[in-house]
Amino acid sequence: MPLVLIVYHSKTGNTEEMAKAVEEGVKSEGLNVVRKKVDRISFKDLLKADGIILGSPTYYGTMAAEMKAFLDRSVQYHGKLEGKVGAAFSSGGGLGGGVETTVLDMLKALLIHGMVIQGDLHGSHYGTGSIGRPNAAAKKECKRLGEKVARLIKRLGVF
Ligand SMILES: Cc1cc2nc3c(=O)[nH]c(=O)nc-3n(C[C@H](O)[C@H](O)[C@H](O)COP(=O)(O)O)c2cc1C
Repeated sequence: MPLVLIVYHSKTGNTEEMAKAVEEGVKSEGLNVVRKKVDRISFKDLLKADGIILGSPTYYGTMAAEMKAFLDRSVQYHGKLEGKVGAAFSSGGGLGGGVETTVLDMLKALLIHGMVIQGDLHGSHYGTGSIGRPNAAAKKECKRLGEKVARLIKRLGVF
């Protein structure tokens, strides 16, 4: 069974709520999920995963330092994540606060690892963004992100 890893940072719980909804989406497509805070990730987790979804709060228009440090450390696995499916989500404090740039910054790192990213015709085009405590609509978008990643993994047969 393919495995999706959800790696996130969250200080006040908003990104964590999003991560739980993303997890629900992946599970609803029948895939296995490991959801872990970024400081608990082992690189074995990364190598085992068929899909990797990153979540971070928006801090000064980009990802939290903890997520950036994790991505910088991932250089030791450069070349080993190629072809895996990736996605990202972020929680911000306000509209126009940089949630989309945060998502794109995380996606750039995944693309540099050679990963496969699917865009979205509707709603959040790059990945899921949410403001403050995620409401029902934001959670639905997060769930959809998880479903989309799971379906792409199945379609590509990358596991
Ligand atoms: C150091 C710091 C920087 C922040 N910078 C931004 C920002 O640039 N734009 C924004 O919309 N929100 C910003 N926020 C608000 C957080 O993104 C927001 O509260 C988020 O929901 C926190 O997620 P968490 O509950 O998962 O920790 C910042 C918060 C902190 C603590």
